[in-house]
Amino acid sequence: MEYILISGATGGLGKALTESCPKNSNLFLLGRDKERLSAFKKELESSGRFGEIITFQADLTKEEERSALFEFADEKSVRFCALLNVAGADIRKPFKDYTDEKLLFQIRLNAEAAIALSLGVIKRRGKELKILAVSSMCGIMPMPYFAVYSATKAAVLNFFTALYYEEKDVGVTVLVPGSIPTREDIKEDIKRQGITAKLSSKSPEFVSKKAMKALYKNKRLKVPGLYNKINYFLQKIIPTPIKCRFMARRWKKNIKDAF
Ligand SMILES: NC(=O)c1ccc[n+]([C@@H]2O[C@H](COP(=O)([O-])OP(=O)(O)OC[C@H]3O[C@@H](n4cnc5c(N)ncnc54)[C@H](OP(=O)(O)O)[C@@H]3O)[C@@H](O)[C@H]2O)c1
Repeated sequence: MEYILISGATGGLGKALTESCPKNSNLFLLGRDKERLSAFKKELESSGRFGEIITFQADLTKEEERSALFEFADEKSVRFCALLNVAGADIRKPFKDYTDEKLLFQIRLNAEAAIALSLGVIKRRGKELKILAVSSMCGIMPMPYFAVYSATKAAVLNFFTALYYEEKDVGVTVLVPGSIPTREDIKEDIKRQGITAKLSSKSPEFVSKKAMKALYKNKRLKVPGLYNKINYFLQKIIPTPIKCRFMARRWKKNIKDAF
């Protein structure tokens, strides 16, 4: 049977993307917390919108847990028709304040896990295969105090854009959202940052709808929202020293680490 594999399915954007999956899809949900996964599974089952739903608990930063996930899929003869690579960590703080553990966690989750899951589903693809990769507006420019996040999201953007041109029979879409009010700390952050963050902010439901539409239309890139589209274009032409100094001033006073 063919399933849509969704990482970060119990997070803010992950839930909304799962709910935006095509009607009657079979879902294969990933998360770290068993209770949250089974509560979400129950909620989805009671909606009656989807087919079979499998949940699997895995810390995606760990190679052995990713292998266990694909062994489990093989035992059940699972094939994948889509992968929504949503799991990610948006830690923002001075680089010197990282521990080695935190640094590896963020790089592994945002870049390594997304790329490794893609290899796993390509090797177990169904008749069709679509991959959605969640990058960020932070991935289109270097960001002081958000350096690890912006670097890993740039890796996601570059890797999946390359894959779009390499694997012609896999539909690859890179999502580049601005702010999405998911966790409470992100909602507070959007309020604190003022008008530009408010203009950039789009609900998880709005972003998910746009992302899924782009994925099923085989679009290479999706930037949801008019302000974000203009910003995406401006960031291509504003000189790096100007934007980096601006971002450094903004993020220096706005640290966050919810992980
Ligand atoms: N919110 C924004 O403003 C924004 C903007 C641009 C891009 N994004 C990107 O959108 C994605 C979702 O973000 P969100 O706002 O929905 O945040 P979120 O609610 O914190 O979701 C993050 C997800 O990542 C999962 N995760 C964290 N560590 C993991 C690990 N070690 N192994 C497996 N899964 C792990 C979490 O799983 P658990 O449920 O098990 O904790 C959670 O489902 C991220 O990639 C983020 O970078 C967000």
